[in-house]
This record gives sequence, structure tokens and C-alpha cells, in this order.
Amino acid sequence: MKPKSGISISILPDHHDVLVSQKDQSVLDVALRLKIPLNHTCGGNGTCGTCLVHIVNGIESLEPRTEIESEMAEDRKFPDHERLACQLKPHDHLVVEIKKSN
Ligand code: FES
Repeated sequence: MKPKSGISISILPDHHDVLVSQKDQSVLDVALRLKIPLNHTCGGNGTCGTCLVHIVNGIESLEPRTEIESEMAEDRKFPDHERLACQLKPHDHLVVEIKKSN
């Protein structure tokens, strides 16, 4: 797996500047590939909410929530800086923090 050139994200609290692979469609994909513990009860389908992460940096460059994430965010009243890692596309300099419940 060849990393996308120059694209890295940080997954706090323990992992800084991890490279994004061409196969990584989401932040959850990055975490799973690097064996970073991140709950994902529904397997990344956007239905469980266990992969919730806090956006520390880069919120201004995020793509809008997917439809399935928008529905959950509305139901559960997620603030803008909390996103589902399985629905979150990585971009350079994105910094996320895994919530303690994970
Ligand atoms: S893994 Fe279930 S919502 Fe993301």
C-alpha cells in the first residue's frame, strides 16, 4: 500500500502524523490499517455512533456530513466538531481525537 504523497493526519491522543494510504476512504480506515484502537461496532456503516471522534484541527476543510451521518447527528445532537470516523474523509493536517469511551 503506497501512502498518498504528503497527506498525513494526526489521531490523538497517541498517534501523530500518520500517513494516509490510497485505500483509506475514511479516518476509520486509517485507524484500522494502523491498528489504532477505535470502536466501530457497525463495521463502518454509519449506524452505531461508536466511532465518534473530536475534530481538533481542520474542521474548516471537512466535507459535509454524509446523509447517514447527518441523520444521526441530528438525532443525537452532535456538535459540529464531533464526527463519525467511518464517514470522515481524511485531509492533510486533519487532527482528530478519539473519544475516551472508545
Ligand atoms: S463504525 Fe458505526 S457509526 Fe462509524
